[in-house]
Amino acid sequence: MEKILITGGAGFIGSHVVRLFVKKYPNKKIFNLDALTYAGNLENIEDIETEDNYEFIKGDITNEQFIDELFAKHQFDGVIHLAAESHVDRSIKDPMAFLKANIFGTVNLLNASKKHWASIENKRFYHISTDEVYGSLGETGFFYEDTSYDPKSPYSASKASSDHFVRAYKNTYGLPIVISNCSNNYGPFQFPEKLLPLCINNIKNNKPLPIYGKGENIRDWLFVEDHASAIDLIYNEGKNGETYNIGGHNEWTNMDLVKLLCKVMDKKLSRKAGHSGKLITYVTDRAGHDLRYAIDASKIEKELGWKPSLQFEEGLTKTVDWYLENENWLNNVTSGGYLDYYKEHYKNDCY
Ligand code: NAD
Ligand code: DAU
Repeated sequence: MEKILITGGAGFIGSHVVRLFVKKYPNKKIFNLDALTYAGNLENIEDIETEDNYEFIKGDITNEQFIDELFAKHQFDGVIHLAAESHVDRSIKDPMAFLKANIFGTVNLLNASKKHWASIENKRFYHISTDEVYGSLGETGFFYEDTSYDPKSPYSASKASSDHFVRAYKNTYGLPIVISNCSNNYGPFQFPEKLLPLCINNIKNNKPLPIYGKGENIRDWLFVEDHASAIDLIYNEGKNGETYNIGGHNEWTNMDLVKLLCKVMDKKLSRKAGHSGKLITYVTDRAGHDLRYAIDASKIEKELGWKPSLQFEEGLTKTVDWYLENENWLNNVTSGGYLDYYKEHYKNDCY
């Protein structure tokens, strides 16, 4: 039976990837390795925890001995690596945590793969990365696979570095690798410190909606299940050594996005039109805030036949419905003082 190690599978995107693989490939054994940091939550994947082809392993990708023993024991055929510190604001506060998890953790997994893959035939190390490695765009243009790296935040610098290490292991040791760089994901199970789930939670509770700076920064939004389907395609059909950009062709300024969310939620919550818009509050800008991200996804579309399945308003409505129907999940994940950093840093009543 083929054995696939997925790291970070108790987090937002990882939980969707684990679910897709467990359900779609009953004849493959899926191992989910996650340290269960503040962002990891077993509730995200409780619907598949009793499946025969699934096993959860609690552990830290930065622990050298543990990772070495894990690879020796299971002899994985492939690795899909998502575990990371993922929030830009936290990286501004604590860059070292990002260096450890994202760079050291990735190199530790690369070393274990190199050591335990006696033959590289039918093996694959797939690194899930971000469009933020390319830096920030002006008002026009797109990120392509060959756009030069120009990371601007400690988070994106750590992801850029890990991408370089993954390519270096192919170039130096012949490790079979593939990388994808994706734009902003949204959907169920996203931790409510990121813009959309934070605003959904605040609208629900009639709390201010923090817009950094002038709200003019642009992000390219993709429904998380579309990212998971792209990951499935790339893992199974992507070419060895290649990089694929994944994005939604779906650019929104933060202000327009939050206004649309307010409109959708006022309707859902039977509130007067315009009610939630009044919660919008301008707060101190994020340090070094990238202006615009936009992905050119034509390579994965042409070569692998992928395209996003959902229109944005449909995906947003689905997401809002999920958060409103899963109040327990929201209460559970927000109960651990996870917003203390923001309260202290931004000194406003959005948290
Ligand atoms: P997330 O923060 O929701 O989940 C990260 C998971 O990794 C958590 O379950 C956490 O417990 C686990 N983890 C963290 N450090 C670990 C360690 N040392 N050992 C083991 N597990 C550890 O993140 P996400 O938004 O799901 O992002 C997943 C991956 O996708 C990341 O690599 C991120 O850079 C990348 N990515 C995210 C987006 C996005 O929009 N969220 C877009 C493109 C790429
Ligand atoms: O582009 C891919 C990246 O998208 C991923 O690599 C990251 O892991 C993921 O967190 C995300 O990064 P962003 O910084 O773009 O996402 P975030 O939701 O934090 O912010 C989206 C935009 O909204 C950004 O311009 C900052 C702004 N923002 C964010 C928050 C949390 C606000 O204006 N107010 C907020 O409270």
